[in-house]
Amino acid sequence: MEIREMQSSDIDFALSLTEEEGWSSIRSDFEELLLFDQHGCFIAEEDDISIGMACALSYGPFGTLGNMILVREYRGKGYGTKLMEHGLEYLKSKGAEFTLLDAVSKAVPLYERLGFKKVCRSLRLRGRVEPAVSAKVRALEDKDMLRILSIDREQFGANRFLFLGSTLSANPELGRLLEVDGQIAGFMMGSRRHGFVRLAPWVMCSHFELAKSILKDFAAHVGGLEIRTGVLETSRKSVGLLKASGLYQESSSWRMVLGKDRMDFSDGLFAIGSPMRG
Ligand SMILES: CC(C)(COP(=O)(O)OP(=O)(O)OC[C@H]1O[C@@H](n2cnc3c(N)ncnc32)[C@H](O)[C@@H]1OP(=O)(O)O)[C@@H](O)C(=O)NCCC(=O)NCCS
Repeated sequence: MEIREMQSSDIDFALSLTEEEGWSSIRSDFEELLLFDQHGCFIAEEDDISIGMACALSYGPFGTLGNMILVREYRGKGYGTKLMEHGLEYLKSKGAEFTLLDAVSKAVPLYERLGFKKVCRSLRLRGRVEPAVSAKVRALEDKDMLRILSIDREQFGANRFLFLGSTLSANPELGRLLEVDGQIAGFMMGSRRHGFVRLAPWVMCSHFELAKSILKDFAAHVGGLEIRTGVLETSRKSVGLLKASGLYQESSSWRMVLGKDRMDFSDGLFAIGSPMRG
């Protein structure tokens, strides 16, 4: 097996893999990953035929790995492990001190052999929330981005300006901001997918008691579509609120880490989208 960098011409192949697995990836997910780092996504090849992929994303102090899929008939031969090792080497070369991923249960043994440890469950939720426009919530605008980026960096632990900017510009009507006395208490963004809206990210930095208002206000802007999102089980406030508001748990995976003994995630990360983008 050979490993090479993914090009934009590989995106059709990448989407065929995610579709086969029933994942809800869309073209812009891969376009943005390549824009963020054109060297961080990899294609596995055998006899010049593409047989798999994996993506590594460096945020500087830490990295994330995801989109690990092999064409079915090539599984079970150690290729997945080699792709992972390649991604980890790449992140190391970019200075990552630790690496995060979300693992489906079946893949946990593979990641454990590479040294990853389970941190907590990463929940996937979906459902409908009763909509209610709130006077405390307004549209998130470009002029808010500098303040948003600073809050986001504090809660997420790194700068993900490219993903925030692209999510907002593709779905401006889904960017909502909770403001109290002129201070930002939280914000959320969303993206329209095939038949549903993905809520992510959702970050709260104060006035957690008003989290329900921004969620309901967001629901008033999704045009009746189902909302899907992710949340770490350690974000107890968020899990409780999302479930009490009408979302139910569809599945869960394991948030795993390599290179750190303990991992505390911020309480302010109320919703995550893809594990790679947080
Ligand atoms: C995950 C995946 C890329 C592994 O590729 P691979 O070449 O088969 O992996 P390796 O041969 O190096 O290692 C085998 C390990 O893969 C994992 N695995 C096996 N079947 C799997 C499956 N259907 N889904 C996920 N992981 C699986 C197991 O941990 C297995 O170890 P074990 O035999 O001790 O149980 C491949 O199984 C796959 O494409 N799965 C579907 C997509 C997916 O679930 N991706 C991972 C998301 S976290």
